[in-house]
Parts: sequence; structure tokens; C-alpha cells
Amino acid sequence: ETGNLAPTPPMGWNTWNTFQTKIDEPLLKGMVDAYVSSGMKDAGYRYFVLDDGWMMMERDTKGYLVADPKKFPNGMKAFADYVHNKGLKFGIYNCAGNKTCAGYPGSRGHEYQDARLYASWGVDFLKYDWCNTDSLNAREAYITMSSALKETGRPIVFSLCEWGNHKPWLWAKGVGELYRTTGDITANFSQDKHMGTWTASSVMTILDKQPAIRQYNGPNHWNDADMLEVGNGMSYAEDKAHFSMWCMLSAPLAAGNDLRNMSEQTKSILTNKEVVAIDQDVLGIAAYKIPMADSVEVWVKPLKNNEVAVCFLNRSNHAQKLNIKWGDLTVEDKTTGLNLKLANGTYTLRDLWLKKSSGTTKGNFKQDIASHDVLMLKMVKQ
Ligand code: DGJ
Repeated sequence: ETGNLAPTPPMGWNTWNTFQTKIDEPLLKGMVDAYVSSGMKDAGYRYFVLDDGWMMMERDTKGYLVADPKKFPNGMKAFADYVHNKGLKFGIYNCAGNKTCAGYPGSRGHEYQDARLYASWGVDFLKYDWCNTDSLNAREAYITMSSALKETGRPIVFSLCEWGNHKPWLWAKGVGELYRTTGDITANFSQDKHMGTWTASSVMTILDKQPAIRQYNGPNHWNDADMLEVGNGMSYAEDKAHFSMWCMLSAPLAAGNDLRNMSEQTKSILTNKEVVAIDQDVLGIAAYKIPMADSVEVWVKPLKNNEVAVCFLNRSNHAQKLNIKWGDLTVEDKTTGLNLKLANGTYTLRDLWLKKSSGTTKGNFKQDIASHDVLMLKMVKQ
């Protein structure tokens, strides 16, 4: 039984975006400490996830995975204990194929053995990648690992990572709690990065794939738009826009920056509790994109208690003047029966980044939005 391991999108931190395989216990202990002291834990982040690169290049003679003793001299159980002792949950990584993407031993043919090992270490979350999978059937391979995890009796969140190639939104509900929808993110706002045969996605490229699958998102089956690049090199506005949009989508929030030396701006983004609350809203409804003129996009997310989050996203390379007639903003969804007319009744507006009131929906609303920036409002009926 999958149960209720992720009623709201999982929040955490993952090694990959900053460190790739260059991880070890001293570095990671420092990160765990910073996770707590920086306010990330207070803001709701819980999982501490090791991505690719934690293992020895070979299994042992009995077929068990071994944590690289140069990186983890005290073994993985000791590190997991360290994470748990700080009140955090511990996540780990492997791959459905014969080898992981970085060439470490994959789980193919060892699924049950690996699941038992993870459970014995106290693993709470498994990210399961899709490299070197040759003839494997994705759905079947993920079901095998899902069953292996369930068999351990330990609640382990299962994070599918086959990049959306096999439409996991159609079948992953009940197999795992989250599934990647798209390829790897980079710290680029709108420019994809081409590396030979392989293309890494920009924040906007990933965002553009979300409206078509928004209806599949919900509690315990989250569309995973990939980990966050906040603090990894984009501008403050771009980081804010990226984070806002992931929250509008009710996407899993896995920070991927070095927590030990975050700037105040980066920290203020990742730990903005009012914005995080939009992501974590119990309804778990991914935002609707409303067609509008100009290059300002409008995204609308229904929240509990008939509250609404609205995010205006300026994708152009220059500032835009917003002039909103609230009556023009209507969201209709025939599949769910939603018919949200923001003109019906007056809402108060709160700017979630400025953390102050922005008036009401009476009359027009005018504001400038800088290039690559957002205006994110929470609307509460008066
Ligand atoms: C591909 C995944 O999409 C990334 O998130 C990361 O896990 C790497 N593999 C690790 O090799």
C-alpha cells in the first residue's frame, strides 16, 4: 500500500545540482548542520537526499551495494543516523538500469536486496534514475522497485526519475509519490544548454511542459519539475520567478544549492513561508495558465478555503506594465467542474514577496514587473 507518504509535495535538499558525485561525509555533515541553522528546516524542508556517487564501483561478494569508504568512512548507517538526529529524513539514490548515470552499480536484478539494505540504514526516500536501462519496460521496472520498497515494511517515499519519456503521469500514481516530468534542469532561465547529444533544460522550458500535465498532479502523485536551481547563478529576479512557479505548480521542492554559504537573497527566497505555503496547500492543485496578451503570463492556483494564488510572470527582456481588470481573469476546467471568476466578489490582495497588502480586486490593478520577475499575490475573499 502506498499510503499517504506525501500528502503535500516533498520538500528537501539534494546533492546533485551543486556537487554531482563530489560528496563525502564531512561536506555533507556540514550541509546537514547548515540545513538546520539556515532556517531551511523551520521553513518546512525535511528530506536530505544523496544523489548519484555515494557507492563503491562494485557490489561486494554477496551482491550488496557498499557506501564508498573514502567518502563515508563510518558507513551509511552512521550518516543516516546523523541526519535523523537533526530531525530530518534521509534519502538516497539508485537507478533502474545496470549502472547509474555516473557509472556506479544500478539496481537491476538486485531490487529486493537493495531495498532491504536501504531500510536497514533507515532510508526514508529513494530517487530512482533511468540510465543504462536498455530493454527495460519503464512501468514494470518502477513497479518492481516500488514493490521491493513496500516489502521492507518501512515507509519510503519513491521518487521516479525517467524524465517524462514514458508519460509517468498516466501510471505512476500508487507506484511512487513523485515522478520527473522532464529532463535535467540547469541554472538557466530560458536558454537550454546543448552538450553533444544531450540537452539540459532551462527553467522556462520545463515550465512550458507543465500545463499539458497539470491535471495529473495531486496528493501522493506529484509531477516533479526537477530540483531547484535557486542560488546557483541566476539573477535574484530569475530565482524568485523559478521558485514562485514551482510553488504555483505544487511541485516537489528540492533545493540544490550550497546551504553553508547562502546569500541573504537566496535564503529569503527558499525560506519565504508564505510562498512555500502556496506549494504546500493541501488541495495540491497545479496552477492553470491563463492566456493573456503580451509576454506576461498569468497563472492561477486554487487554494483551500476558496483562496487563490495568482502569479504574473514577465518572460520578456524588459519591464512590463501590468494593467489588470480582475473581471478578465476566469478559470474554467470542465474535467473538475471548476469555474473560478475572480470578478465575483472582492478579494484582498497580498504581495507574497513584498510581504504586504496590495489593496483589493476593486478597480484596475497597475504595477510594473521587471524582466524575468514575478508578481505573486494571494487573494482572500473579503
Ligand atoms: C540524471 C537525473 O535526472 C539527475 O537528476 C541526476 O540524478 C543524475 N542523473 C545523476 O547521475
